[in-house]
Amino acid sequence: MRILVTGGCGFIGSALVLHLVHDLGHEVATLDALTYAANPVSLSSLEGDPRHRLVQADICDAPAVHALFADFQPQAVMHLAAESHVDRSITDPGAFVRTNVIGTQVMLDGARTHYEGLGSADKAAFRFLHVSTDEVYGSLPPEAFFTEASRYDPRSPYSA
Ligand SMILES: NC(=O)c1ccc[n+]([C@@H]2O[C@H](COP(=O)([O-])OP(=O)(O)OC[C@H]3O[C@@H](n4cnc5c(N)ncnc54)[C@H](O)[C@@H]3O)[C@@H](O)[C@H]2O)c1
Repeated sequence: MRILVTGGCGFIGSALVLHLVHDLGHEVATLDALTYAANPVSLSSLEGDPRHRLVQADICDAPAVHALFADFQPQAVMHLAAESHVDRSITDPGAFVRTNVIGTQVMLDGARTHYEGLGSADKAAFRFLHVSTDEVYGSLPPEAFFTEASRYDPRSPYSA
């Protein structure tokens, strides 16, 4: 498959990209703005691998996002790019609204435009996976666990 991974130079995203390419043999385009949280060295084993390309761009940059969809023609999107550090969300919530809300909307809009141009079989197979966080459910009491029926109870701008 051709899979577009956002945030693929981050902590989780880089492990995901390596798994998708090295272990599963998929073709991956990594879209990452290379913020302070990125560690592109994590993907150094993919240098020169024709199954991987790294595109440095901001997910809020709609023309760049739409151009990548048009060029790469992904069959699936795994969206992990985010501002992800809780303490930073308390001191600078605007950056979180920008990337996590506006950037996600730009990604969804790019996916929808791309999706509308697909044939019916490709439409049926297309997936957009948005990685979220258990923090949306708030604080967990000892010995308890969240379920899919748990109520949202965010405690920070990040989780909200
Ligand atoms: N790390 C955890 O423990 C954890 C737990 C639950 C959920 N999550 C979620 O999983 C996802 C990945 O987490 P992580 O720990 O790998 O995050 P991370 O902070 O390590 O990496 C985020 C990546 O996104 C990129 N990025 C940030 N803003 C961007 C933008 N505007 N445009 C393009 N790229 C941008 C950064 O450069 C970085 O490479 C996030 O959505 C996070 O909320 C993480």
